[in-house]
Amino acid sequence: MQIKLLHVLFAGASAATLIPQGGARFNDACLPRLPSRIVARLGHQPSFLENLAFRDNGDLLVTQNHPKPQIYTIKQPWLKNARLTLLHEFQDTDGAAGVVQVAPDHFVVAAAKWNGFNPVPASATLQFIRLAKNGSVAETGFVGRYPELGLFNGLARLGDYQNSILAADSALGVIHKFSPLTGDHHVVVDVPELKATDPSAPVPIGVNGIKLHDSHLYWTNSNTASIFRLAITEDGLPAKSAKVELVSCVPDGLAIDDFAIDVRGNIWVAAVINNEGVVVRPDGSTVSAVGSAGEMTVASGTALAFGNTAADSHILYATTAGGLPAPVNGTVIEPGKVVAIDATAFLCLVCDVGRLAIGPLPRLDL
Ligand SMILES: *[C@@H]1O[C@H](CO)[C@@H](O)[C@H](O)[C@H]1NC(C)=O
Ligand SMILES: *[C@@H]1O[C@H](CO)[C@@H](O)[C@H](O)[C@H]1NC(C)=O
Repeated sequence: MQIKLLHVLFAGASAATLIPQGGARFNDACLPRLPSRIVARLGHQPSFLENLAFRDNGDLLVTQNHPKPQIYTIKQPWLKNARLTLLHEFQDTDGAAGVVQVAPDHFVVAAAKWNGFNPVPASATLQFIRLAKNGSVAETGFVGRYPELGLFNGLARLGDYQNSILAADSALGVIHKFSPLTGDHHVVVDVPELKATDPSAPVPIGVNGIKLHDSHLYWTNSNTASIFRLAITEDGLPAKSAKVELVSCVPDGLAIDDFAIDVRGNIWVAAVINNEGVVVRPDGSTVSAVGSAGEMTVASGTALAFGNTAADSHILYATTAGGLPAPVNGTVIEPGKVVAIDATAFLCLVCDVGRLAIGPLPRLDL
């Protein structure tokens, strides 16, 4: 989600009119509120953490979109006393958004310039950061500058280090395919469901987060508050005769940002203005699992991702913007943070946990 757009959009409106109160949208009395704890919090505010990716060893990389275009790391985020440590500040840009690992310890980040609260036209760049084995910065630079393209947001890697990534263009409402090595690119998906088609909706940008799962490209459309998917080939092109499928229309009033998909096919969505993590089940029904409008737990959650090690594969990590786009209860903000949410209870409630592919679940020390 692009902070500054939202900030402008919601700055003049009272949170009470925008944020639905209570749980009336959801009728799942038996759903547990998932336990969570703060992994690490920035020392400055306001601050807007935007997205996250993992190293193969489970360490986190976290992008910051405001106040500076930076990337942080958290070593072993499942342990207590984890810290956000600054790795790098990107050049010739104002904010860092999507981040994806394109090869071991080689990450690509989407970045753009901002004029106050508006994205500067023709400022889209993709930049990279490579790390040494010990986690220190080995090399940084530009994949490319793309003045003819819109606003890059979510990024996803095609296949297993196949040297291609997909990039959601939130302004043009298309998916580009890039070589992170040469910067070459072309449009691979251009369908109406990627675009902002509802001028009366509170969020003006279309496609936001993208994920590859089960031979499909999934995406959130923030403008139409919908989740879609499309069968794609290994090259990232729409599969022969594939049609866009509507996965879910989320309940009215949810402003959806990035998301994660679990081993059962549930989609965990950051409802950024609502301060909630919402689960969309494979049948399209939705339920709130963590946070609420008046809570700081995931205040302005921007992105979610499950841990990638045996220690934390049941832990959902969330990045937050601390209420910056829409202060909690209209006034409360805090620094951006990373939160660990223990999803075990939800996974156990909705499925036969004995058959879970991820095996016995270690407990996070919350
Ligand atoms: C990490 O590794 C790099 C490259 O191998 C080396 O230059 C650097 O000094 C190391 N840093 C630390 C803190 O060990
Ligand atoms: C928001 O308001 C509610 C209702 O008064 C209150 O329970 C809650 O603690 C408030 N949240 C914050 C972060 O102050």
